[in-house]
Amino acid sequence: MTFSRRDILKSTGASLSVLALPVLAQSRDAGPFKLRASAFPQTIRPGVRTDVWGFNGSVPGPVLRFRKGEIARVALVNDLPGDASTTVHWHGIRVPNAMDGVPQVTQAPVLVGQTFNYQFPVPDSGTYWYHPHQMSFEQVARGMFGAIVVEEDKPIEVDRELVWVLSDFKLDAGGRQVQDFGRMQDLGGGGRLGNVFALNGRQTGRDNRIMVRTNERIRLRLVNTATARIFLLDFRGQKPMVVSYDGQAVEPHPLPQGLLLLGPGMRTDLVLDCEGSPGESFAVIDRRDKGYQIATVVFDKKPPARPRPLRSPMQIEPNRLPEPDPSKAIEHFIVFEGGMLGKPAIGLVDGKALKVPEIMQDHALTWTMNYVAEHEHAMLHTPMFNFRKGEHIALTMINETEFEHPMHLHGHSFRVLRVNDRPTQFRPWRDTVMVSPRGSVQVAFVADNPGEWMFHCHILEHAAGGMMGTVAVE
Ligand code: C2O
Ligand code: CU
Repeated sequence: MTFSRRDILKSTGASLSVLALPVLAQSRDAGPFKLRASAFPQTIRPGVRTDVWGFNGSVPGPVLRFRKGEIARVALVNDLPGDASTTVHWHGIRVPNAMDGVPQVTQAPVLVGQTFNYQFPVPDSGTYWYHPHQMSFEQVARGMFGAIVVEEDKPIEVDRELVWVLSDFKLDAGGRQVQDFGRMQDLGGGGRLGNVFALNGRQTGRDNRIMVRTNERIRLRLVNTATARIFLLDFRGQKPMVVSYDGQAVEPHPLPQGLLLLGPGMRTDLVLDCEGSPGESFAVIDRRDKGYQIATVVFDKKPPARPRPLRSPMQIEPNRLPEPDPSKAIEHFIVFEGGMLGKPAIGLVDGKALKVPEIMQDHALTWTMNYVAEHEHAMLHTPMFNFRKGEHIALTMINETEFEHPMHLHGHSFRVLRVNDRPTQFRPWRDTVMVSPRGSVQVAFVADNPGEWMFHCHILEHAAGGMMGTVAVE
């Protein structure tokens, strides 16, 4: 049996209260969504209230659901405290440049008390997310993020769909957010890590129980909205299949090495055919952080959902993305240097060549991309690359640092051709790709979306520390 949109909405709302996300549905004739950014208290760690910033009074903000091809209309209302201006960026959605939500590059920051109306066609189905692009290392850390689901015309057959927004918060003993955003050691190191893991805005742990039925098929949409934390998830005793990365269909395949690497900004859709006996349970564990338990999946004592797992196809109908032809692509290279550890780098800041220690002291920047350390969003009219509209581009990223960098391009999806000089198995489409320390990644895409687009590390402290630039398509 195939579940309708309405059934899916009902089940995501009602499956389990601890994990349930508020859902805003939009139909074609519904009025615009309103996203109101403000500060409010929320229970993240049981027993204490934490002052967070977020959308519509919840962290994460509402799941925005669209249908492929629909026009999204979202009014952003800035009711943040003090003079915190903001924007919303629709991470992964191929929007027209003016709707991309990047302050100083695509729009003026939205001041407190102001409203900005976003309106754009939603060309592709898939799992995406939204977050501010203004002071994002602080605003996203405080809780400003939410998931976006764009439904396929013909969804794959599942019993239930769950959205898991993974993040972390840095709380003190009293449950307050530690106000240490933008420290140099985080900018130049591994980023600012929280001490509380959160799944859909609540502290995770073995008590997060998800009840499933034997042979039930669940589609799990995972989004990592943390500013810096990289998750490496182990679904012990289960064999989830990857069906999409960053919203784009991929040939269904088991998790590579049985583990799901989910860096900041990245999404993965999994299909889980729950195989286990009634009463059994298994743990979902983060292998990056001492085996921290994210959740417990518990098999209901009720009879199986069906005698054996579903056999219907898991392949998602792919979006129509312009196919890059590597043989006619123009090759570009980008080298990352700087940060802590490793060899000292030299970078251009405002046109002057400086050593990284000086850059740190005088400009609070620590990373370079192609020998330039850039102030966040300051690159207005000096893109790193200028592409002609329709040009096929092959871009090789070379990481000369000791840190991982999840690199994100706005306005386009790219195929990942090579990782550490070896061809990838599925040439997956992505918008955010992990480049390992001293590693390299080659991607290819057709530069078909005109405008000036951000290209940056999605460890948001790294972006603030110099790993941010733009590419222009005209
Ligand atoms: Cu998710 Cu430029 O960002
Ligand atoms: Cu980085």
